[in-house]
Amino acid sequence: MNSKDRIKVAIQKSGRLTDHSLSLLRTCGLSYSRGTDQLICFGENMPVDLLLVRDDDIPSLLAEGVCDLGIVGLNVMIEKAVTGPGLVLPRQAASLGFGKCRLSLAVPRDFTYEGPADLCGRRIATSYPRILGEWLEANSIVADIVMLSGAVEIAPRLGRADLICDLVSTGSTLTANDLVEAEVIFESRAVLMAGDRPEEDIRAEWVDRLISRVEGVVRVRESKYIMLHAPRSRLEEIRQLLPGSEAPTVMPLDGRDDKVAVHAVCRENVFWETLEGLKAAGASSLLVLPVEKMLA
Ligand code: PRP
Ligand code: ZN
Repeated sequence: MNSKDRIKVAIQKSGRLTDHSLSLLRTCGLSYSRGTDQLICFGENMPVDLLLVRDDDIPSLLAEGVCDLGIVGLNVMIEKAVTGPGLVLPRQAASLGFGKCRLSLAVPRDFTYEGPADLCGRRIATSYPRILGEWLEANSIVADIVMLSGAVEIAPRLGRADLICDLVSTGSTLTANDLVEAEVIFESRAVLMAGDRPEEDIRAEWVDRLISRVEGVVRVRESKYIMLHAPRSRLEEIRQLLPGSEAPTVMPLDGRDDKVAVHAVCRENVFWETLEGLKAAGASSLLVLPVEKMLA
């Protein structure tokens, strides 16, 4: 397979999504070696290479066909406006279970913020002019958007803006810059994006395979395998209590006519409360196991 037939997955070069993205792909079975320039990792066991790039560039790399798949924050995806032709989302922007953060308005301590109306005529520094612009419009606010591609949080101190609109994860950047979160305007998380590709492309098969592995990994994270003994008479009740399971396996127990063994894959996390509820319904010998791999 020559290099143009290998599929390319773009991930963030360094930042919040980098480690999670690499570990997700490793869990999908990809092993790779890092090139000397560290900007490309060659897959060793699949025709899949990783491009390490600025996250903001990922949507356009996909749109231009340079990459086939990308892992990016929903905020970047929406900001770069890439839902048009040339780019499709794999099954509604499958959420990957990491990179949760929010795009928020944050104000200096002495700024009294009581609601969107306080933003009229203000200068707001942000790297997200599109998302912010839409939010302002939806709230009928006319304000100045000051577009900055980095170091947004120091804009008020430099006198370049009255407040900012930036991503907040732990909140420590805001605290360090004496800013207070005033309003969440957008909730974000990491998503998997796919570029458009011709159906007959020989890479398509690998792209699909990788997408379904990613979906499998994500699904498995929340899934548990649960085993228990249930009184036959209360089987239906117990079945109802199993979170997110479709068809549990019910097996006879040797020498016991009154009880059966129930095994089920639960597509949601199983909490102590659930187990207590099952026990109250007569279940015994409860065992909850992690699921390692799943292929629907
Ligand atoms: C965001 C944002 C803040 C920081 C907030 O940057 O611009 O600097 O994260 O995180 P905290 O609330 O945990 O302090 P990001 O990681 O997206 O980097 P980038 O803008 O360079 O892509
Ligand atoms: Zn970025």
